[in-house]
Amino acid sequence: MIPLMKNTFLNEYETKKELVDFILKAKILSMGEKCAEFEKAFAKIQGRRHCILFNSGGSANLALLQALKNLGRLKDGDTVGFSALTWSTNVMPILQLGMKAVPVDCEAQTLNCMAANLAETLKTVKLDAFFITNALGFAGDLSAIREVCKTNGVLLIEDNCESLGTALPDGKTGNFGLASTFSFFVAHHMSTIEGGCACTDDDELDEMLRITRANGWDRNLNFAAQRRLREKHGVKSEFEAKYTFYDLGFNLRPTEITGFLGLTQLKYLEENCNVRQKNYLALEEEVNNNPDLLPIQRGHLSFLSNFAFPVICKNRELRGKYIEQFSGDGVEIRPIIAGNMQRQPFFAKYVKGEWNLKGAEFLHECGFYFGNYPELTEADLDMLKSCLRKY
Ligand SMILES: Cc1ncc(COP(=O)(O)O)c(C=O)c1O
Repeated sequence: MIPLMKNTFLNEYETKKELVDFILKAKILSMGEKCAEFEKAFAKIQGRRHCILFNSGGSANLALLQALKNLGRLKDGDTVGFSALTWSTNVMPILQLGMKAVPVDCEAQTLNCMAANLAETLKTVKLDAFFITNALGFAGDLSAIREVCKTNGVLLIEDNCESLGTALPDGKTGNFGLASTFSFFVAHHMSTIEGGCACTDDDELDEMLRITRANGWDRNLNFAAQRRLREKHGVKSEFEAKYTFYDLGFNLRPTEITGFLGLTQLKYLEENCNVRQKNYLALEEEVNNNPDLLPIQRGHLSFLSNFAFPVICKNRELRGKYIEQFSGDGVEIRPIIAGNMQRQPFFAKYVKGEWNLKGAEFLHECGFYFGNYPELTEADLDMLKSCLRKY
């Protein structure tokens, strides 16, 4: 049996042991020092000014859109494009926050939205923002996408929950838009059990994300920001400030356990991403030699921090056969994320209209994935290679 993932953590035993010690010694377990320490460390590794830790990647997505609305950079009724191939909680907050969600198709060969897909959408719809997803550890031509957004006045934000560590010659995924989000759920590149974050270089957005994360209050802002807000709203005492709520928020806070685990896992992140790339390259050879399968184009990426290994068959019948081949050999598999989002019941319920999403539809019908993680043994890799050989 080769499961989607084997462990909760990188270096499972040491991490659990350190966690037990930490919990026994910690005085406070609600969001505090460890979260702040993690935020600093992650921002540095990602190469962004700010990192804001959340209790999940989906929470980071929700908070990011709410924070942009609080700042007036997005408003009710705005049109937000999203990658047709993504996860449910990338799209749901667009709808939950009263905006229109428009799918942008992806290219089957790259699994991702390319600048040409975005340009095609912009021929018929004016987008206020594009919440792109970098899918399964891959990404589109993000520099060109950034240019198209700039030319057309589209605010670019990235859902990088599946592509931590991937890079293009112009930089790391997650650093191409105004802000980006990450997930630290089990089986992602690093795990805090549940967890996620948002990154940005924008000071105002950083501040608003912290307000949005915790009830709409100012307690997690620096002194200068608190003073500015309190003066603006005539809040005269610390007593009053404690329960003054400045803008729309939620409670999406992580705990100190999230912060602690994040710091532990960050130590192993680079090595983990390297092994994922190495595994991917070894398995990719089998795909290239199998005429039933579509090779994924990744020439525009300078580093592939693969999340899971996509198997794209040339037609639906072949997929049926390969699903049987993998399942029969005990390999756990999944559909290609949410597939063509238009086919999801929640989307059909809330969004009217139909888009021609050829790429996403093809992947929905012909794709699936299996796990790629550092704990895969040579024997596992041999088994996976044999499953990837011609049926
Ligand atoms: C693209 C994408 N966005 C958002 C999420 C949500 O992350 P989480 O499970 O941490 O809420 C996921 C989860 O896998 C994802 O793949």
